Amino acid sequence: MAFLTWTDSMSVKIESIDKQHQKLIGMISDFYENIKTRSNNDNILKLVDGMKKYTLEHFRYEEKFMQQFNYPGYVEHKHEHDLFVTKVNALEEKYKSGKIIVSYEITSFLKDWITNHIQGVDKKYSDFLVKNGVE
Ligand code: FEO
Repeated sequence: MAFLTWTDSMSVKIESIDKQHQKLIGMISDFYENIKTRSNNDNILKLVDGMKKYTLEHFRYEEKFMQQFNYPGYVEHKHEHDLFVTKVNALEEKYKSGKIIVSYEITSFLKDWITNHIQGVDKKYSDFLVKNGVE
């Protein structure tokens, strides 16, 4: 069974965002597979970098619409995004400095965070953004 799989229950009813979430989930699963098969360090760091970049792009995409339509939960949502970025940067530094030998700590964190975030705060904006025409 895959480490993490996107399911319909994760849908925020906005196709562009569902696609981004699917891509993120795929990247996290790929990362996990690389950890499991003890891929080399450079490869792991490249995957982390790719995930960070794509996640930031995704966050900016959601935040752009929330701001554009004055979504009432914007500040709380943005705060969650910012905390995530801070935490991932800290984990990456720990990994680089050898404080985490195996990065299962990172994969577990990513899996739990993305699942809870999509099912929680992301779903909260769904109706609001759909009503404002976001597809
Ligand atoms: Fe889909 Fe708020 O991240």
